[in-house]
Amino acid sequence: MQNQNDQSRMDRIVSLAKRRGFIFQSSEIYGGLNGFWDYGPLGVALKRNLKDAWWHDMVAGHDELATLTGAPSPYEMTGLDCTIIMHPQVWKCSGHFDLFHDWMIDCRESKRRYRYDHLHGRWAAHRGKKVFVTTDASGDEAAPETVARAQKFFGLRAKQVDEIEWGGGLESLQQAIAAGSATLADTLGPDATAPGSLTAPREFNLMFETRIGALAGDDDDRAFLRPETAQGIFVNFKNVLDTSRVRVPFGIAQVGKSFRNEITPRNFTFRSREFEQMEIEFFCKPADSAAWYRYWRDRRWKWYLDLGLTAGRLQLREHAADELSHYSVGTADIEYAFPFLAAGEFGELEGIAHRGDFDLRSHMEGKLVRKDGELVVETGPDGKPRHKGSGKDLSYFDDITRERFVPHVIEPSAGADRATLAFLCDAYHEDEVPDEDGKPRSRTVLKLHPRLAPIKAAILPLVKKDGMQEVAIDLYRALKPHMACQYDEKGSVGRRYARQDEAGTPWCLTVDGQSLADRTVTLRDRDSLVQQRVAIDEVVDLLRDKLS
Ligand code: GAP
Repeated sequence: MQNQNDQSRMDRIVSLAKRRGFIFQSSEIYGGLNGFWDYGPLGVALKRNLKDAWWHDMVAGHDELATLTGAPSPYEMTGLDCTIIMHPQVWKCSGHFDLFHDWMIDCRESKRRYRYDHLHGRWAAHRGKKVFVTTDASGDEAAPETVARAQKFFGLRAKQVDEIEWGGGLESLQQAIAAGSATLADTLGPDATAPGSLTAPREFNLMFETRIGALAGDDDDRAFLRPETAQGIFVNFKNVLDTSRVRVPFGIAQVGKSFRNEITPRNFTFRSREFEQMEIEFFCKPADSAAWYRYWRDRRWKWYLDLGLTAGRLQLREHAADELSHYSVGTADIEYAFPFLAAGEFGELEGIAHRGDFDLRSHMEGKLVRKDGELVVETGPDGKPRHKGSGKDLSYFDDITRERFVPHVIEPSAGADRATLAFLCDAYHEDEVPDEDGKPRSRTVLKLHPRLAPIKAAILPLVKKDGMQEVAIDLYRALKPHMACQYDEKGSVGRRYARQDEAGTPWCLTVDGQSLADRTVTLRDRDSLVQQRVAIDEVVDLLRDKLS
């Protein structure tokens, strides 16, 4: 079902994000660069708060002595910060070099390029003429788009649209071709005027390539920008084991940039070409891995809820067996109903994957493939490994049980940009509040969790006289060492509240005439709009308590 309201809500969110300095298009003054985004003053704070919350909750604040709810045992957490460009062999053994591709398809007529799996179509016929009409529009826009395209193709007027005979509903072009129910020769490309202009689908590796060194030239100098942060963790597994006192089970976390040359970046920052990931590789005993998988799936799900994402817009989806990667024993996605999606559709925020021993073994032995249900080293025509591993021993010796094994890995892999976008969308509200004269005024407010809010408190002198500024500045200076806060004396107090509401600031502290008499201020709550008087000397403790 078409979700017009949500699409127009998304447009207003994008407009607020630009207007208030959350997110800008990269290189905007030169016309922008598709798939690349910059975070403005408020956006950088929001995204940093999100990453800090993740790092604190998963790593720095983790209690390694406690058995957390649902965890099979206590565990340790540590971190890494690896390079974006790594040895090219890393990507050969991980499988990205051979397998990290999407299928793309070009249109000879329009010169446009599409992701094969993004094209949908259906048969349309009119007076003996038949064509498989396709579109790259997604969700609810797709079906009306094929009607408009068929109308144009058959040269019909609007009132003749009903004369078109449809051969069923929309289906994936990829599946229709595979099933033989459509051919490329009969297919009208999404921007073409005649059928048969789409090329055969081709593989397109999503890794960005670069060259290392001044004399770079031949294939041996080719390097890649990492498409995930995870591999830096696997190749440092032994370094971490040898240099810290961690014992299995333990996790290594990393936050950092990843790059994917997406064929069709879309939906604001949702699918970007440069983005940040927050990944954990959790190493455990093979026998305990199923229990740890369940623990991490539930733990990560709860994290989003605790930070305020609306439960009704979140979904935890276990992958069906045929959806699993060749190495995966189990995967669940945490998904969010983004407003740009059709009703009932969800977009992935994070994947939690049980990866078995695939990654550590790949970096020991060489690129693995599944053969007869077993993971074996892939060999070339000469019988040698297609991509040779490091040969280093990445097994683990448990000196208590005297067992040696290759740990299994559970990987909660989240996107910082997607999560930022989800929190932004979820926080966006439009409501009515009384203005200074008690009249209802419409407002736009970001109901962000205080931990995520870019500014925690605003300090506002009611007027710029009678010593109110001085009291407000003193309060600002008392609060600033403890949290991000802002002093604002410009405009009416109503306008200042409105500015802070749009920025998602949870608390406003107003210094007025009474403050000078009894050293109290008004504390206004963004969401409930309740205003209470609090002692100036208690403000710091009060807000710190609320934040924790
Ligand atoms: N190491 C596993 C891995 O990278 P993934 O599902 O490909 O798994 C993990 O990526 C997360 O990274 C996704 O759930 C998403 O949040 C984020 N992500 C992936 N591709 C992205 C893109 N093009 N733009 C923004 N975020 C992306």
